[in-house]
Amino acid sequence: MKEMITKIPQHVALILDGNGRWALQRDLPRTKGHEEGIKTLAEIVKEARNLGIKCLTAYAFSTDNFKREKYEVDYLMYKAEEYFLEYLKKAPNDSKYHLNIIGEKTNLSPRLIELINQINEMKFESELEFNLAFNYGSQEEITNAVKKIAALVEHKKLDINQIDKDLITQNLYTSKCPPVDLVIRTSGEQRLSNYLLWQISYSELYFTTTYWPDFSVEEFHKALVNYSLRERRFGKEHA
Ligand code: IPE
Ligand code: IPE
Ligand code: MG
Repeated sequence: MKEMITKIPQHVALILDGNGRWALQRDLPRTKGHEEGIKTLAEIVKEARNLGIKCLTAYAFSTDNFKREKYEVDYLMYKAEEYFLEYLKKAPNDSKYHLNIIGEKTNLSPRLIELINQINEMKFESELEFNLAFNYGSQEEITNAVKKIAALVEHKKLDINQIDKDLITQNLYTSKCPPVDLVIRTSGEQRLSNYLLWQISYSELYFTTTYWPDFSVEEFHKALVNYSLRERRFGKEHA
């Protein structure tokens, strides 16, 4: 399968979905699905780097996921803290990627905010830029970009005519990465759930019914083979 990957996307965005249903199917608590899902993510991050993908963005927790039951939210917050601490122990020397946590700070504990700030302040070169979308919402991200730009105009640091697509792109949380080439969503849902709405204008979309904890390196390769066969036109005529 791997030999059939002829095009490596520069930026892949994952919507890790189906952890809860994976657990339910096995009569396990939803949190068990998240535990397995975290292991899957580690494998896929490793493989993304092996394949030479430059940017990987993973949707781990949306701003709307706070609507879930407290025990599940608490568990996800706890796992995030554990993962951030682990990363801080290793980075930069021992880290296989540069981590950038994208999303809102509202509703997060001071402890988590502190860890996120520490991680995001670490600047070093790495083969893989890994954006973890945590407490993330695309409409919130775009709103923040608009506010930042409006403040510049208000303080006469920017003329309104200087506002263009590039300036908006630069004011998003993913400014270090090129536009998303490929979106992969697991679990059979075919929607975007407020994810990277600006960055995916010309992305290829790939949906699989596999639940995220069951998503494997082989399935990742399958998605990339599928992507390799797509003809991207960006508005040009059909070949
Ligand atoms: C994705 O799995 C992980 C998060 C949103 C945190 P879900 O928890 O959404 O799993 P389902 O969709 O309920 O099966
Ligand atoms: C989207 O999944 C968010 C993440 C994968 C973190 P959801 O499971 O929350 O999305 P909906 O509610 O099915 O749209
Ligand atoms: Mg879901």
